[in-house]
Amino acid sequence: MLELSHHVDLKPYNTMGISCFADYLTRVSSEGELREALEWAGEKKLPVCPLGEGSNVIFSGDFQGLVIAIGIKGCEVATGEIDGQVLVKAGAGESWHEFVQWSLSQNYYGLENLSLIPGCVGAAPIQNIGAYGVEVKDVFHSLQAMDVVTGEVVTLTGEDCQFGYRNSVFKGKYRDRFIIVSVTFSLSKTFEPQLDYGQLQREVLQTAGVNPVTGQLVSDVVCRIRNSRLPAPEQLGNAGSFFKNPMVTREHYQKLLEQEPEMVAFSSGDECWKLAAGWLIDQCGFKGVAYSTGAGVYRYQALVLVNHGHADGQAILTLAGDIREAVSERFGVDLEIEPRIY
Ligand code: FAD
Ligand code: EPU
Repeated sequence: MLELSHHVDLKPYNTMGISCFADYLTRVSSEGELREALEWAGEKKLPVCPLGEGSNVIFSGDFQGLVIAIGIKGCEVATGEIDGQVLVKAGAGESWHEFVQWSLSQNYYGLENLSLIPGCVGAAPIQNIGAYGVEVKDVFHSLQAMDVVTGEVVTLTGEDCQFGYRNSVFKGKYRDRFIIVSVTFSLSKTFEPQLDYGQLQREVLQTAGVNPVTGQLVSDVVCRIRNSRLPAPEQLGNAGSFFKNPMVTREHYQKLLEQEPEMVAFSSGDECWKLAAGWLIDQCGFKGVAYSTGAGVYRYQALVLVNHGHADGQAILTLAGDIREAVSERFGVDLEIEPRIY
């Protein structure tokens, strides 16, 4: 039986801590409950918004529809292993970080660099979460998702998902079409450290000293770096990086470099360069700004917009607009917002 709440304040449901109201909210813990919720919304012709931990959403105003908090749990290891890889299927409502820690406790490797990313397993493929040199696509096997119109559950492969940098088919042609119910990962039984990210490599080797580098050690160091750089949402509302790092052509990059010899950028193959959006915003003088609306920029990381307590979605978007304008004027670069705006 569907349990619905009416006129619900979403403040506890988004890490930016924006207070706004959803007409309806329900929590589902099985595929059956999810189908029931979708049927109910379908009959009423209401839009639905699936939510995990709300760590990558910005509510620009009230949500006139049904918010579905995804609480589908479970973790299952497929029998047998192929070439030292095990397939592990996790429910969409599992906490991402707890899942990463569980995998390490089982000696299954591949997720350690993605430790401490907030959110649930079901949201990880939506923007192909990534950090410290690893993206979800690197360990992804397949996912199961429910069609919001028919209630049918389909399996999608990595190819179907069209993963890219902070991107997937769920931000394109399948946007709002599917709700992910579980994700299957292909994890390794042999630990191979992925230490391409300079600071991670330095700190891991320094921490390990003469001892071997383990998956848990890499995870612990990732957590330490993250805690030193990113604000904890319980203390300061935020949604992680607010913008994607922009890609520019080689010509554009070289022109910018003449103008800004100190600019931070990384070659991204295909004649493209990825610029550090945090650096661009920092150069425009936004680091640490705090508007009277409560919207601000984190003082240690200019790519993170924060809520000093009373900001609403419009206040955050106004600040984001000012940042985009300044960066565009000075560098001729368009910043794309990373979280989903509702
Ligand atoms: P939500 O915010 O609840 O949802 C995000 C989007 O996915 C929404 O559009 C929602 O409708 C949709 N969605 C959620 N669940 C489902 C589902 N089951 N089926 C279909 N659609 C669904 N991201 C990174 O990639 N790398 C980082 O290093 C990183 N660091 C962060 C640090 C902080 C402090 C914060 C606050 C965020 C960070 N993020 C990072 C962003 C965020 O953690 C990820 O995008 C995460 O995957 C969001 O999970 P969630 O459960 O909170 O999703
Ligand atoms: N920088 C500045 N000033 C700032 C912020 C950054 O000069 O205020 C410079 C740094 O000095 C560094 C460069 O910009 O040289 C890049 O910074 P950092 O390594 O912190 O990474 P980022 O590009 O800001 C990205 C992801 C993060 C991810 C980290 C680690 C995006 C949009 N963001 O941040 O993901 O955790 O790398 O891999 O790709 C997220 O998506 O929400 C997120 C937090």
